[in-house]
Amino acid sequence: MSRINLAPGVSWVGVVDWNIRDFHGYTTSRGTSYNAYLIKDEKIVLVDTVKHNFAEELLNNISRIVEPSKIDYIIVNHVEMDHSSALPAIAKIAKDAVIVASQRGKEAIAEHYEDNFNVKTVKTGDSLELGTKTLRFIEAPMLHWPDSMFTFLVEDGVLMPNDAFGQHLASSKRFDDEVDEHLLMEEAKKYYANILMPLGPLITRKIQELNQMSLVLRVIAPSHGIIWRSDPMRIVKAYLEWSGDKPKKKAVIVYDTMWGSTDKMARAIAEGISHEDIEVRLIKLRSSDLTEAVTEILDAQAVLVGSPTLNNQMFPTVAAFMNYITGLKPRGKLWWFFGSFGWGGGSARSMMEQARKAGFQVGDSTVEVRYVPDVNDLKKCSEFGRQVALEIKAR
Ligand code: FEO
Repeated sequence: MSRINLAPGVSWVGVVDWNIRDFHGYTTSRGTSYNAYLIKDEKIVLVDTVKHNFAEELLNNISRIVEPSKIDYIIVNHVEMDHSSALPAIAKIAKDAVIVASQRGKEAIAEHYEDNFNVKTVKTGDSLELGTKTLRFIEAPMLHWPDSMFTFLVEDGVLMPNDAFGQHLASSKRFDDEVDEHLLMEEAKKYYANILMPLGPLITRKIQELNQMSLVLRVIAPSHGIIWRSDPMRIVKAYLEWSGDKPKKKAVIVYDTMWGSTDKMARAIAEGISHEDIEVRLIKLRSSDLTEAVTEILDAQAVLVGSPTLNNQMFPTVAAFMNYITGLKPRGKLWWFFGSFGWGGGSARSMMEQARKAGFQVGDSTVEVRYVPDVNDLKKCSEFGRQVALEIKAR
């Protein structure tokens, strides 16, 4: 591997996980990377580590630049194991290294690993002098764990915000000007939707806080995926847009079907919505996955969820979706529910109850069909879709 520099003396030493497809439930169809950074000054600093099964590769990457035993500090911006589980292996070699973390990070390290690490805690505004360079720390609690912290390399303007501004994208390229920009933004959006969606207000406040610090930001180097160097503000602006509760005039229909009835209903509803010239997307859950569904919902104003009734309950894939989406707490959307049944109804009502309990804004109207929808039922579905479109238009 040739040396990959973000700035003089600042190198990427992470690893690419080409084959991961399930990242604790997130479908990583394009793999990911675990980014770690090495700063070589009078002091030598490793910023974050990688997943434990890549510890040897991380050590090899470091060895091409410095002897790993010479590392003075290991910054742990976030203790989730994709970034910290190689820490015991690295610390065993870098025996004198001081580990630097937030107070919550120190506690989380102790609760994850049995090793007796030498941990120095830092808080927002604290600095670490490395010789000619300075690290400044910015706590970022709940972005996305209580321990989360950003590290800023002052002289080079490099922000290392760990999970924030990342993407699950494996690539032989490291920088935003080296990859397809549409692919990059698509993966950044998917990452935001599935990991950071519940944290919109916190993200907005953190970006305001960074602005008030008047940091000269030249590079944003996240812990997953591609590094933003050509226009780092592009991803910051995208985060402000995604967190800003200003959805597009777009509807997403998420559904599943047993014998095709709910599928016919979904198509008729979509026809009614598009009749009013509103963009609509259909996602059948067993032909797609939750990760894709949530990404489509991020910028939609209306979400319609359809389910057959199985054992008096919503269909299992729809139940999994409802569980996932209520946890992600999307804001500023209108929700409607519909479904089919045979002898005992219930799926639409169950979904409405769950959504209301989660604080979603749920429309009162619904459409339910017994067994197979006939021409009149499909007309009702189309009209239901048209009414949804008119509500979208009116907002
Ligand atoms: Fe990439 Fe929160 O771990």
